[in-house]
Amino acid sequence: MRVIGFNASPRKSGSTAWSITQILESATEAGAETQIFHSGGLTISPCRGCLGCAKGDGCVVADDMRAVYASLKQADALVLGSPLYMAQMSGQAKVFTDRLFAQITPRFSPRFKEENAGKKLILVFTQGNPDQSKFQAYYDYTRNMFQMLEFDGQDMIVVTGTRSEQASRNVGLSDVLRKAGQKLAQTFPSGGIGMATAIDEYIDEQNTEVQPLLRNICDTIRNAAPGATEKISYRMPTFWRGENIIHFAAFKHHIGIYPGGEAVGVFFKRLMGYKTSKGAIQLPIDKPIDYELITDIMRWRMEQIERKQEG
Ligand SMILES: Cc1cc2nc3c(=O)[nH]c(=O)nc-3n(C[C@H](O)[C@H](O)[C@H](O)COP(=O)(O)O)c2cc1C
Repeated sequence: MRVIGFNASPRKSGSTAWSITQILESATEAGAETQIFHSGGLTISPCRGCLGCAKGDGCVVADDMRAVYASLKQADALVLGSPLYMAQMSGQAKVFTDRLFAQITPRFSPRFKEENAGKKLILVFTQGNPDQSKFQAYYDYTRNMFQMLEFDGQDMIVVTGTRSEQASRNVGLSDVLRKAGQKLAQTFPSGGIGMATAIDEYIDEQNTEVQPLLRNICDTIRNAAPGATEKISYRMPTFWRGENIIHFAAFKHHIGIYPGGEAVGVFFKRLMGYKTSKGAIQLPIDKPIDYELITDIMRWRMEQIERKQEG
């Protein structure tokens, strides 16, 4: 898994840089490949609005954002850190966000690309003022904006009070940041760099011991959803018929299946022994996989989708 950090403070060794670095260091320790870009050392000019990117070859502006685009394309997660300037993200963060347009756009945009959606995001803001609530409305707004761009799980960490002392001197903060980095790395699918464009390729990228389980799960789903479109969506194997039927993904200790929130509700009795959350079910790798359960969930999903599409 790859994580990139973007420091939108002009200062390469300020509180924002330090905070991002803490997250990246612990993600590295948990097995991630990480890289940091400091806006202070880069020339990234504002979006020109020329729509040159509409031709499909990416942004036409030849500046340091090219290197960021290349890394971001291969990244599973972004840690975007910005100082709060005049109660908003810094100009550097805004320019960076605007320039994402050439690669990451909302689903309603004609240039939306499924393969670029679903990257994890940690937003880090540092602010001089000790009171976070003064700017909470802006932070919530920003989180929603990144949600619209289909970043996944927009965790946000706000570092306050940097006017009186550098973030690095804030007791306990390092732990919070490092935990976030560790969690980020651990919630990732176990293998590869997430560049697979087909389900079989995705499975081939995973650890060898989990591959047979993934193949069996995939076959179980295929049998229950004949003719469904197979693709990679949100960086996970996905079966689709007019809507996503189910995703699945491999993690270090479990395989996640994602049949949607309603399915998890309907099957709650049979899911008692499993960890579940918001439409996700964790199948532990060290226990036998209940393929019958997957088949039954799939049958229910297919009927549900048929009913929706008929009515
Ligand atoms: C131009 C400018 C505007 C700022 N505006 C705010 C603000 O509106 N609210 C706030 O709490 N801090 C504000 N600050 C303080 C910074 O957000 C804070 O010092 C931040 O941690 C700096 O990050 P850095 O050390 O990574 O550069 C501002 C600082 C500058 C230079």
